[in-house]
Amino acid sequence: MAAFVDIKNVSLRYGPAAGGVLALDDVSLSFERGKFIAVVGPSGCGKSTLLKAIAGLWPTTSGSLRVGDEEVRGPLKIVGMAFQNATLLPWRNTLENVLLPLQVVETHRDHFRRNRRQHEERALALLESVGLADFAEKSVWELSGGMQQRAQLCRALIHEPSLLLLDEPFGALDAFTREELWVVLQRLWLEKKPTVVLVTHDLREALFLADGVHVMSARPGTFVAERRFAAPRPRPLEVIYDHGFVDVVHELRARIDEARSARGAPPRATVGAR
Ligand SMILES: Nc1ncnc2c1ncn2[C@@H]1O[C@H](COP(=O)(O)OP(=O)(O)OP(=O)(O)O)[C@@H](O)[C@H]1O
Ligand SMILES: [Mg+2]
Repeated sequence: MAAFVDIKNVSLRYGPAAGGVLALDDVSLSFERGKFIAVVGPSGCGKSTLLKAIAGLWPTTSGSLRVGDEEVRGPLKIVGMAFQNATLLPWRNTLENVLLPLQVVETHRDHFRRNRRQHEERALALLESVGLADFAEKSVWELSGGMQQRAQLCRALIHEPSLLLLDEPFGALDAFTREELWVVLQRLWLEKKPTVVLVTHDLREALFLADGVHVMSARPGTFVAERRFAAPRPRPLEVIYDHGFVDVVHELRARIDEARSARGAPPRATVGAR
């Protein structure tokens, strides 16, 4: 099958050629439609930058980046995003937050206005599927952190994107809530099978959810390894305690440590298998 996302020899430099920051260096990665891909690597290596480039939010400096059959030249409309440290808008209730992309993205706006009821029903169904049926009319500050992350997932999915980009979507949560949300995300993915790129520091999260986990070197980021855990889906949460699973997590951790020390990074503080 042809690649849905096809990244070839992409480099991305912020700022001027002299004195700017080279964030990505000769990155290549391609995967088919419907795959779930995870990207891990040391802090500051360029993971969020890669997502910004795929989404068309930041231009690449060289190389080729194609999504579908098109070279990415500007913001993509088929993308759903839940970005690092993203927040819900406090002056909108939960349902209105989920509906936001339909109201602000020009291509959806007209359709939304004409079919508001239908879209609201879809948003409510999504909220129900993540256990937030009773919170649609609640203010954002009445939701716990885990509930807000669930609502953000719904917001990223409301326009049924064929490409879902998730940047540390569960970063700030306790371990139990995070594991619960892995199961939720796995179910949402299995229902519609969007192509997913998940950036995370949590190696178990990456391996549990993804078809393949790609390890980036320290900045300037480039892919240096890939690991997989082959298990049928839906995967029960208990697989994270399997010997095979734990072994691959250790391998991933070792690859990241190598990547860090290869470029003289500071001692491990934030990276590792949580
Ligand atoms: N808008 C920007 N302008 C200039 N430099 C930037 C910009 N955004 C990111 N950078 C730099 O690019 C490099 C990669 O940043 P990026 O945010 O992609 O890292 P990351 O892998 O997502 O890190 P983390 O795991 O901490 O989120 C860093 O050195 C960062 O300082
Ligand atoms: Mg980041």
